Amino acid sequence: MKSILEALNWRYATDKFLNTAIPEDILYTIIEAARLAPSSMNFQPWKYISIQSPEIRNQIFEAGGKQEAINAPTLLVLTIPNILTAESVNNVVLAAAKARNADPATLDGYRNMLQGFIDTTEPNKFFDWSRRQAYISLGMLLLAAAQLEVDAAPMEGFDATKVTEILGLKDYTAVTLIGLGYRSPEDDHQSWPKVRFDIEEILEVR
Ligand SMILES: Cc1cc2nc3c(=O)[nH]c(=O)nc-3n(C[C@H](O)[C@H](O)[C@H](O)COP(=O)(O)O)c2cc1C
Repeated sequence: MKSILEALNWRYATDKFLNTAIPEDILYTIIEAARLAPSSMNFQPWKYISIQSPEIRNQIFEAGGKQEAINAPTLLVLTIPNILTAESVNNVVLAAAKARNADPATLDGYRNMLQGFIDTTEPNKFFDWSRRQAYISLGMLLLAAAQLEVDAAPMEGFDATKVTEILGLKDYTAVTLIGLGYRSPEDDHQSWPKVRFDIEEILEVR
């Protein structure tokens, strides 16, 4: 398996994919990496939708500016909740109780902490907050894919309102499309140099 740095240098935002499906166990590992991402207070405010329907994919293709990568063998849509509510708190507490094999009532301190966050946050702030958490999960997904030599195309350049509508989402909004698969030898983006700021420019030592 590639080292982390080998994998990150190998990966690039892929444009053209081969028509080769990703083996199920590999795809499972990539999604698991996304699922296991940490998030503030463990709210995990993200849901991925795997697009299987060719009709829905075509509609997303139109709403996504006809980006080639939307035709990748696997297309995921990362969605986040529009707001956080007492129900969101309850879901997190129930998950914690299940994992710890505990009575949810014993987690009242945790519940109050989560609810306190909700009560003291302006509702219009939840969306950006959730996006920040969700992008940690997206980062984990992209790293896992790269280590497993699966190519990925994260895309924000699409009409989020339209894609949300196409998917019939009420409480969630689409924030990123992710194409996954294997690079086509015809994809000229793979020959582009890796463009990143030097380490001194992104790390300041004081
Ligand atoms: C969240 C996110 C959204 C992106 N959206 C698009 C997009 O809509 N269209 C596109 O061509 N590239 C998109 N990119 C790819 C970036 O342009 C690319 O990752 C960046 O230029 C660095 O190049 P590299 O990934 O090939 O190393 C996106 C990347 C990220 C992380």
